[in-house]
Amino acid sequence: MSKLNATDVQGFVLRGYNMPHARFCFLHFQNAAAGRHLVAQLLGSITTGQLWDNGKPQSTLNIAFTFKGLTALELPLATLISFPDEFQQGMKDRASILGDIGKNSPEHWDALWRGADIHAWVAIHALTPETLEAQFAQLNAIISATGNIHLLGSQDAAALVIDGKLSTKEHFGYTDGFGNPDYLGVCRNTQPGQGKLLPDGTWAPLATGELLLGYADEAGELPVAPVPHILAANGTFMVYRKLHENVGTFRAFLDEWGARYGAGDAAAKEKLASKFIGRWQDGTPIELSPDAPDPSIVADPNRNTDFKFGNDLSGSRCPVGAHVRRVHPRDAFGFNGKLVDRRRITRRGMPYGPQVDPTTPQDPATLDSTDRGVVFMALNASLSRQFEFVQQQWISYGNDAHLGNEKDLLLGTHLPGEKFSIQGDTNPANPPLFCANLPNFVELRGGDYFFLPSITALAMIAMELVDPR
Ligand code: HEM
Repeated sequence: MSKLNATDVQGFVLRGYNMPHARFCFLHFQNAAAGRHLVAQLLGSITTGQLWDNGKPQSTLNIAFTFKGLTALELPLATLISFPDEFQQGMKDRASILGDIGKNSPEHWDALWRGADIHAWVAIHALTPETLEAQFAQLNAIISATGNIHLLGSQDAAALVIDGKLSTKEHFGYTDGFGNPDYLGVCRNTQPGQGKLLPDGTWAPLATGELLLGYADEAGELPVAPVPHILAANGTFMVYRKLHENVGTFRAFLDEWGARYGAGDAAAKEKLASKFIGRWQDGTPIELSPDAPDPSIVADPNRNTDFKFGNDLSGSRCPVGAHVRRVHPRDAFGFNGKLVDRRRITRRGMPYGPQVDPTTPQDPATLDSTDRGVVFMALNASLSRQFEFVQQQWISYGNDAHLGNEKDLLLGTHLPGEKFSIQGDTNPANPPLFCANLPNFVELRGGDYFFLPSITALAMIAMELVDPR
């Protein structure tokens, strides 16, 4: 592997910032000169992957572009047409491939995503709301001084606070943010369960080229990337999806089916919730602890992602269609996990919208209609081979898992007549359960594909130096 120069990679790519506040700003360039000028102004402030020797900064800044944005920046035609097709098309035009139909289809998206073309995503993450506002004011000042840049809108996201402490929970009540792959050269201690499975049962980091352009991937090839090479190297592609969560619908469904599961009591409901995702709501993987949550596993990074499904092909511990098993089947499809190594994505999502108290009953319709959910952001070298494959084949279809056309319970766009199967448990009190009349728990409210260039590439764009020859 060529050596990874972390200072040339945007920090957002190499690490989860774990900052509780964020604002994602969406910009439109009136002309190329204005766009280039803005990039030049921001360049020195972009957070890189350099190690934080002096502790976490107060805030971070990152930037990425849609294909329309790169076109508006007037990159040479030969460069533009060298970007992968799915990126050129953008998320809206990939709706049928992604299963973004019905209420998820682009005509139902927020006005921001249906209006003027979004050219750039500028992300501010901050430790406090005050720092976030101060950084946003600075960005606005730069935008105004540059002129001919429109801030079309922004999306705030914030960590949920549980018992006065920052958490990594999302609004349905699950603890999120455990599983993310390790990559060669990306400074992090390799965690069991986070990279690729080796024949001896241990885990190793994935090839860097599964995350970053310009490095060998798991096939030993350079990922498909735009020209010139120096524009692509150390960059990656980002999926941005605003996923609305119908919390009222989720709670009502869990009440209804929890009453039919096992003893039909609160414990059965909790267990059922764990079967949907493959983790108890506190984060314990049910593959490791199928009968009860185990906080000691959650707290231990060497254990909380260290599980496999090869010894549970029947799904008696973790259902075959549970969310974590679908999106990262590990060794469930045989070949010692080799089939999944090229389908991994790196997630950087955060919740948005007002937090709901899980203990206070509330009107389901009001819960559903409130603007809240997950800002899902995922990074990968190949949008089509990685994110789109997971979304299309594993979330919106069940064939690889021998589940016919069953979808992910929480994420699939469910059509009348669909069911969700939970295999019989090791505990005889929990026979198989087939949930029917599936509502749609999550709805897409907008999104697109973005290119997150390296620092070198940003400088080339700012100085109009991109030359495909
Ligand atoms: C509102 C939408 C979503 C919710 C509430 C949600 C929830 C969760 C939860 C609770 C976990 C377990 C915690 C963890 O392993 O980090 C998880 C894991 C994961 N999710 Fe999602 N998710 C959502 C959307 C998606 C989408 C759209 C994808 C991919 C297209 C996805 C891919 C993954 C992956 C790859 C993992 C890690 C699995 C592992 O390595 O074990 N999720 N998700």
